[in-house]
Order: sequence, then C-alpha cells, then structure tokens
Amino acid sequence: MAIELDIKKLTGLQPIIVKANPAAHSKMYIETYGCQMNVADSEVVVSILAQEGFSLTENYKEADLILINTCSIRDNAEQRIFNRLNEFKSLKKQRKGLLVGIIGCMAERLKEDLLEKVKLVDLVVGPDAYRDLPKLVREAEGGQRAINVLLSREETYAEISPVRLDKNGVSSFVSIMRGCDNMCAFCVVPYTRGRERSRNPETILNEIRELLEKGYKEVTLLGQNVDKYNWNNSEVSFARLLEMTALLTPDLRVRFSTSYPQDMTDEVLYTIAKYPNICNYIHLPVQSGSTEILEKMRRGYTREWYMDRISAIKRIIPDCAISSDFITGFCNETEEDHQQTLSLMEWVGFEYAYMFKYSERPNTFAARKMPDDVPEEVKSRRLDEIMELQHKLSHQSNLRDIGKTFEVLVEGISKKSDERLFGRNQQSKVVVFNKKDKKIGDYVMVKITTCTSATLHGEIVG
Ligand code: 5AD
Ligand code: SF4
Repeated sequence: MAIELDIKKLTGLQPIIVKANPAAHSKMYIETYGCQMNVADSEVVVSILAQEGFSLTENYKEADLILINTCSIRDNAEQRIFNRLNEFKSLKKQRKGLLVGIIGCMAERLKEDLLEKVKLVDLVVGPDAYRDLPKLVREAEGGQRAINVLLSREETYAEISPVRLDKNGVSSFVSIMRGCDNMCAFCVVPYTRGRERSRNPETILNEIRELLEKGYKEVTLLGQNVDKYNWNNSEVSFARLLEMTALLTPDLRVRFSTSYPQDMTDEVLYTIAKYPNICNYIHLPVQSGSTEILEKMRRGYTREWYMDRISAIKRIIPDCAISSDFITGFCNETEEDHQQTLSLMEWVGFEYAYMFKYSERPNTFAARKMPDDVPEEVKSRRLDEIMELQHKLSHQSNLRDIGKTFEVLVEGISKKSDERLFGRNQQSKVVVFNKKDKKIGDYVMVKITTCTSATLHGEIVG
C-alpha cells in the first residue's frame, strides 16, 4: 500500500513515498522442491517479500506465511507435496490467520484447482508472477482468492538481488534464462515455465560480483537449456557469457547446468578448455540410448549425434566429467531399446547419472498421443538395471582417480568426523580429507588415496 503525498505541489520538492506496511513484523517460511532453478527462484521470492517487511524463519510453526515452491516433473514429486500440504492442514486449524501458498510449477499446472479442490491453500502463484506476491499476500490476508499464474515472455527477475538461502556461503546458483522451447514429448516444463527467454548479461554479472563481495567462490549458471542462451540477437551467446563470467576473477569457479545435446556447440567446449576456472564437468542429459525412443521423445538428436558430442567433449576437454539423465520405460520402449541405453552408458562411462521411471504428465505430447504401455514392473526392473550399471561406472571412474591430485573447494565439515572436511573437485566429485588448518571456502590440493562409488578420500598435499 503506498500513500503518495502531493508534496511537489505544496513545496516544489520531489514527492515522498510513505509505505504503510502491514507485513512489517510477519514471518515467512519457504520450502523448496525439485530442481536447482526452484532453489534460485525461492531466493528471488524471499527477496521480493523481504522488501515488504517479511522476515525469514526456518521454523514453519512460527510462520505467518508458508510458501511451498513446487515441482511437477514427475507424479511422485506432486504426491509428496500433497502429503506435505496435508501436514499444514492441522496447523492452519490451530493458527487463525496463517496463510499457505503454493508457488512454482504445480501452481502453474493446477491453477484454480488448487484453490477450489485443495481448500487449504490461500495463494497460488506461478513461476513468472512472483513480483505480484506482495499484492497477492495482501489479498489473501483480506480473505480473497489470490491467484496469478500468468506466464510471461519477458520476465527474468533480472535486477532482483536474491536473498541467499544456501548454508555454506561458498557456492550459489545464478539464473541466466527461464523457460524452455524444446517441447520434449514427456516433459511438463514448457507448460509450467513457459517460453525460453534470456536474462540481461549485465545483471547476471552484477549478481555474481555481489556474490564475490560476500565471499562466494563458486557459481552455477542455471537454465533449462543453457546452450540456447542468447542476449540481443546473438550479441552475447552462452559461450561468451561463460567467458565473461570466468574473466571476473580466476578465483571464481564457474559451473553451469543444463546442457542440451542438440545445441551444445564446440565453441562452448573450447571456452571451457580455455579458462581454468570453468569447471571440467558437463551434465548432458541423453534420456535414452535408442534412436527410435529419442525420436518418440522428440529430442531432436540420434544416438550417433549424442556419441559425437561425447567424443567432442573428450577430445577438447580430456579430463572432463560427464553426467546424464535417463528415463526408463518411455512409451513403446522395447527390451532392445533398453539394451541400447545400457550399451551407451558403458560406451560413455558416465561419472554420474540421475535415473527415473517414465511418469506420464497430463497434457504433454506423450500423454495426448502415445500409450504409457510399459508395465510398472518392467519400468522398475529396467531402472534397477541402469542404476546398478551406473553404480559400477561411478566406482570405476573413482578408482581411476586414485593417485591423482585435485584442487578442491572446501564446502563443509564431513558428517562422519569433525576432523575431516569435504568439498568438490572441478569434476564435481565429492572429496573428503583431513582438516589440518583449512576452512570452508579455501581451495586445497588433495591427493586421492581411496574411494567408494560415491566419494573420493584423500590427503592435503603441498
Ligand atoms: N517422467 C520421468 N522423468 C522425467 N524427466 C522429465 N520429465 C519426466 C517424466 N515425465 C526427467 C528427465 C529430465 C529430468 C530433469 O527429469 O530425465 O532430464
Ligand atoms: Fe523438458 Fe526437454 Fe525442456 Fe529439458 S529440454 S526442460 S526435458 S522440454
């Protein structure tokens, strides 16, 4: 609420804006599900509401406003969130005036249904409507239906300085673009996050400069498909943005996610190779090793194309770690298709993978046009098989690192011992080592002595 006094007329001076701020002593609690993009968005949301006087609490029991930043990518993600909403139900009965809001992808996907069918929600706000949150909170406080799920072609929250929610103060996410135009057949993201748009590079660099001033050492540039980053008709490409970020200071580690096989250029790979502070790690989701399935998924590339991109990475950045995403049991997937996924995994030797069973999402191309015809137990068995293979590949990759020395950025104290620290090397592998005089945020050289499939263990050298 803003009251504008007509001071200019009265005194000839500029008007003063007096903010009557009903939320001045209110507390908000935010819970984030899903991808890194949601983590970055929650930080924007907290920043917008902090300007309205909301302070953040980590205890939902003392909050006046509970926000759940949601994920729709698979059905089980949505089910978990519905269960959580039910937990807040009893709290709402005990605490009159408590507001519960659903924000993010589920808000976008389910819209009015959330207000009408799931009666315990007071606010529904889609990923492009966060600037409207202060107004919507006031409406909800006044007992009105508070909903904004409009998607935008321009919104990037470019100049908003996010309130950092990470615990370590070392590593942070920076959103460089929003939305996705790819329309993969299985994916709900284009419907929940809208069209692709890139953020002004100056605002990205300013945000990173602010992080550097606060002592952060690592940023991950985020987008659904970072290779499509394009500011002002190719004035700044993704490769150029990476370079501009790397040049801020050699002390800053630069990561990015997610790359897309169809769009990842050699120029990006050469940029990674050229700058030592751009981490040698690429997450390049393939989804399936079968060209027939990739075609049905509308991914726009073949198995051979993907293999060519992997060869390019290995040629241009020899010590680059590669991870991927896989879906088992997509529509019509045969045993032979599945075997092709396994053989591709062996051929690449991925360092790491995120693996999922296909989950049909309403309104996607696959849901509209293709039968979800692989039985649940077959999906599960295939998932087990790729997980088992990945476990072996990760272990083999870690075994190859024994005897090597890596630069590690320290992120925290090991859960198992106060005397040990952990951090990650450029390849994004977790490394645990003896503390000595080192602290969180330091770069240390660690020689690897042993490993498990998930972790490298070593000693500080030099
Ligand atoms: N079912 C299962 N997994 C999915 N993903 C996206 N949509 C679905 C779906 N409908 C996976 C993909 C993507 C990752 C973020 O989530 O592997 O790369
Ligand atoms: Fe979904 Fe495909 Fe876009 Fe990734 S690239 S967000 S899988 S549509």
